Amino acid sequence: MTGIEPEDPLALHPVDGEEGSVGGIDAARFRSVLGHFATGVTVVTTANAVGTPAGLSVNSFTSVSLDPPLVAFCVARASTTWPRIRALGSFCVNILSQDQEDLSRVFATRGADKFRGVGWRPAESGAPVLAGALGWLDCTVEAEHEAGDHVIVVGRVRDTGVEHEEGPLVFYRGGYGRFQP
Ligand SMILES: Cc1cc2nc3c(=O)[nH]c(=O)nc-3n(C[C@H](O)[C@H](O)[C@H](O)COP(=O)(O)O)c2cc1C
Repeated sequence: MTGIEPEDPLALHPVDGEEGSVGGIDAARFRSVLGHFATGVTVVTTANAVGTPAGLSVNSFTSVSLDPPLVAFCVARASTTWPRIRALGSFCVNILSQDQEDLSRVFATRGADKFRGVGWRPAESGAPVLAGALGWLDCTVEAEHEAGDHVIVVGRVRDTGVEHEEGPLVFYRGGYGRFQP
């Protein structure tokens, strides 16, 4: 991987009162250790026919089940996008390419005009498929599980697509990089 700029991984998810020791575990160390787990980056979007689309950057995405086809991600309870997804009951997971670091940063900025200048088309659910994403999964909300300051959202996959093959955006220790086999 290249271009990794170690930053403070504590800046990732906005959670109140996370300084010091939480449940006997040092919060800073906890986040630092988790930051050593490299992930891809997705943008989870939602929209209906009317109204503005919404979305946020997510690296807690994972596959769950092949039969039935299920995926999941964890969303902070403080997220402003989550209530929109919950109300609509559907979302689209966009897997970012190595050239979409800027998109990841914008969709991680609360209050930003996130879709300004961003090309997209609606998936079957109406949720945005972002131009340039490597692939996407259009989902309906199958289940939600309270998990501390986050919610584990399980989605049933309704449609999928692979758009490009040029390589994923990688997130590691608070910085972005590329995958090099
Ligand atoms: C690489 C990266 C991964 C992230 N992963 C998650 C995640 O899995 N879950 C989450 O709730 N927030 C995650 N965030 C933070 C949200 O994207 C950020 O808090 C965003 O502003 C939330 O937007 P909203 O409040 O408009 O929904 C991530 C941020 C970055 C940069």
